[in-house]
Amino acid sequence: MGALGKFWESSVGKKIVMGVTGVILVGFVIGHMAGNLQFFAGADRYNAYARLLKHDIIELTWIVRGTLIVSVILHVTAAYQLTMRNRAARPADYALREPQVSTYASRTMRWGGVYLLVFLLYHIGHFTTGWFHPAFSETGTWGNVAIAFKSVPVALFYLGAMALLALHLYHGIWACARTLGFARPSANPLQRRIALVLAIVVSVGFSLLPLSVVLGFVR
Ligand code: HEM
Repeated sequence: MGALGKFWESSVGKKIVMGVTGVILVGFVIGHMAGNLQFFAGADRYNAYARLLKHDIIELTWIVRGTLIVSVILHVTAAYQLTMRNRAARPADYALREPQVSTYASRTMRWGGVYLLVFLLYHIGHFTTGWFHPAFSETGTWGNVAIAFKSVPVALFYLGAMALLALHLYHGIWACARTLGFARPSANPLQRRIALVLAIVVSVGFSLLPLSVVLGFVR
């Protein structure tokens, strides 16, 4: 087995892969949230952002897409394999499970991650390819979003995903800082506060879109 294979086989290697791919995904999500806020600057600005994401420089689009796809696959595979390893190491579950230091966020990482994966597949079929959209327009992205969130179930599905994204980011950023060695021992570490602020800003920023449409502020 080569050095790369040995690295991937080790639990520490998988955690580092999760951390590095997590940083890439968080970077995209922050940029995507900021781009999405242009929804409130009107259709022209928002459609220009969507064109940048999809059409303007097609080679760049595919480099970004390729990086995201590889990152998601590695992130999910490493998470799944680490979970299986942990289970194999402790085949019988605790008779009484009373988490002492784990937070609600850390306990939702697995099923929250699965919900986010389903959300992502739906989301691409919804706004990028238009498969799941009732009136998709290739060039009118602002209208696509404004029409989609008039549906209460769709808006709720997105809002649920954004709440889980907040929990996932909060725990993920904090865990990643520890794995990659940025965290210093402390009762109230700075990384934890940074993780909290980023998680809230990102999920509230995204949630403003479905909320503003479903509550009738944007028509
Ligand atoms: C309310 C929340 C969100 C809204 C309104 C939104 C909106 C959009 C829109 C309109 C597009 C299509 C742009 C176009 O190609 O015309 C898009 C693409 C995309 N979104 Fe989102 N998004 C949201 C949340 C997210 C989240 C949380 C993630 C990641 C976890 C995400 C990942 C992506 C990806 C990967 C693409 C495809 C980019 C490409 O075509 O290469 N989005 N989003």
